[in-house]
Amino acid sequence: MARSIEELISSVKSYRTPLGKFVDREHEVAKILGEIGFGLSIVVGPLGCGKTTLADAITRALAEDDERTAIYVAHREEAGTAKSIVMAPRFSSKELKDIFAELVDVVSGYVAELRGIVTLIDVLLRICRRVGTSVGEILVFVDEFRSRAEEARQGLEIDANYVARMLVEGMRIKVLYLTSDATATKLQLEMGSKARWYIVWNLPREAFEELYNVVRPRIDFEIVWRLVGGNPRELKALVEDHGHDVESYVGEKIAMVRNVIEEFVREEKVSLREAMDEIKILVEDIDVAGYHRIWSYVLEKNIVIDIDERFRKLSSIPREPWIGKENAFQIPIYYWIFKTIARYGEATPKRILEEIGKA
Ligand SMILES: Nc1ncnc2c1ncn2[C@@H]1O[C@H](COP(=O)(O)OP(=O)(O)O)[C@@H](O)[C@H]1O
Ligand SMILES: [Mg+2]
Repeated sequence: MARSIEELISSVKSYRTPLGKFVDREHEVAKILGEIGFGLSIVVGPLGCGKTTLADAITRALAEDDERTAIYVAHREEAGTAKSIVMAPRFSSKELKDIFAELVDVVSGYVAELRGIVTLIDVLLRICRRVGTSVGEILVFVDEFRSRAEEARQGLEIDANYVARMLVEGMRIKVLYLTSDATATKLQLEMGSKARWYIVWNLPREAFEELYNVVRPRIDFEIVWRLVGGNPRELKALVEDHGHDVESYVGEKIAMVRNVIEEFVREEKVSLREAMDEIKILVEDIDVAGYHRIWSYVLEKNIVIDIDERFRKLSSIPREPWIGKENAFQIPIYYWIFKTIARYGEATPKRILEEIGKA
């Protein structure tokens, strides 16, 4: 049966997540199924904001839709072994199941991870082309895309050209590469008009509060919001990895920030004083910080992300002190840590919590 976007949205909303409830994302689903054009798109967003969950939920929801077919593909390293995942619930015929099973076998055989994913998508696109227009719209999610390796870049360009050819042949296909790798935005220049760029953001406050009420952390909501700003993965980490212990959570983040600063000082051979100047810019005007040397270090570690006009917004991005017009921190805790370091020269969990309490 053909499903309306409204029906598909309510199907997505029934998706089960480890946190017990799937919240929000109506706009994102409507845009992905509706206004995102055919062709290749790259969707970036903060680590843990919910990209994989969204793609998975949409893929499953589309199993019921006769006019759209979703395929989800990812290549992950788990416990030291690389694993390819292909999911296409709509293709329930034995023949297609066999094709996919074979595909996964072939691809999992590759030792090098990136060769694996590049080949996987290539084969997948060929299958889509073979089934042609008879299946209606095809939505392919390519998750865990990593932009750093040269091979991945080349693969992306080849895919973009291939998808463009499929469009010329009359196919209706949307290929969405998903990535948390903030450095992916550097590819924007090279790719030019071959891909469209989108941003999906952390959950809005209300939806996040809904999730908070399901998870019930033993921490005041306002504090949680100021720490993780709507990022569900960080909420999970706070509760599960740190046992509701805010100081432990903040301590871990401080250690990470310290590492990045040390790396910056070491690699750029700057004095601590110069580093402090850059840190100040980062908290005072994150848009200006984009022109400074520290930027690529914090980008590389997924502390910040580009959100400027080049990226169309799938989610609305709230106005917060840690979000600029062109650049943003991925989660607010990093802002607080840099701010505390800029002010006191160092950061301890206690100081940061004081700082947050004052805000
Ligand atoms: N809309 C949502 N509602 C509830 N939980 C969510 C939602 N989106 C993501 N999560 C939870 O947040 C965590 C991180 O999500 P994930 O999709 O892996 O993020 P990303 O792929 O962007 O890094 C997961 O545990 C997931 O269950
Ligand atoms: Mg993911």
